[in-house]
Amino acid sequence: MSKAPHISIKGLSVSFKSRTGTVNALNNISLDIAPGSFFTIVGPSGCGKTTLLKVLSGVLQPSGGEVLFDGVAIDKNKVQGQVGYVFQRSLLLPWRNALDNVMLTMEVARRDMSRADREREARHWLNIAGLDGFEKRFPHELSGGMQQRVSICRALAFRPKVLLMDEPFAALDEITRETLQEELLRLWMQTETTVVFITHSIPEALLLSEQIAVMSARPGRVLERIEVPFPRPREEATRELPEFGAMAGHVRGLLRHRDPATAKAQ
Ligand SMILES: Nc1ncnc2c1ncn2[C@@H]1O[C@H](COP(=O)(O)OP(=O)(O)OP(=O)(O)O)[C@@H](O)[C@H]1O
Ligand SMILES: [Mg+2]
Repeated sequence: MSKAPHISIKGLSVSFKSRTGTVNALNNISLDIAPGSFFTIVGPSGCGKTTLLKVLSGVLQPSGGEVLFDGVAIDKNKVQGQVGYVFQRSLLLPWRNALDNVMLTMEVARRDMSRADREREARHWLNIAGLDGFEKRFPHELSGGMQQRVSICRALAFRPKVLLMDEPFAALDEITRETLQEELLRLWMQTETTVVFITHSIPEALLLSEQIAVMSARPGRVLERIEVPFPRPREEATRELPEFGAMAGHVRGLLRHRDPATAKAQ
């Protein structure tokens, strides 16, 4: 497969117009994301993180600015086979069982694989996600966390060049979360996938990412971009490092920061 693209976000703004007025969700965001990096966005609720991922996936047109993949403006039709998306809430097809939902992305993006290989790959991911025995269950027969795991499997199974993940592990129990974090990192290290990840968990951001962008309250701006230096594999001992605590404290401080302009407007 060809390499993941360099993602360049230039002066991006998004506002939503409704009957009650205009909501400025993103204000002049510029970010460069290197090919193959693990890039995490943290920021207060409502600051525009999901909105940003929607623009990156091509489903939402920005009001200003642009997003380039390898220097070319993204095209909704072209990004589909390139970009995997785990939404904040799982969006499975209700009429397809778990296995068929996972196979869906591969049917579109991995036409080079035989059906048997696609099924083997889908079963492999369901197994990793602890869903052995649930392959034939339909979404309504699964718990919310199980549905989310199927969505994660669906996005990972086709090995996209860009993987957009919107708080994918928030609803999971701790052990499942840790297992899927490890698998995601393994996949990321084995492939050249660029991961753009959103989380509210500062430790999760520090354990997974190469870079973190901290966003302000709405309208979201990038307050700071942080390089995460800890060597991999990052383990329990990583959390105990004084530098880890210091960096977590720094991010927390940025998230507490209230922009005077925003504060006045509220
Ligand atoms: N389709 C829409 N129409 C109108 N307003 C919207 C729409 N989508 C998002 N917004 C508004 O844009 C802002 C940013 O929303 P967004 O979902 O991107 O936030 P978020 O950072 O992902 O928050 P959270 O952490 O709670 O998921 C919010 O004020 C929200 O109300
Ligand atoms: Mg969101």
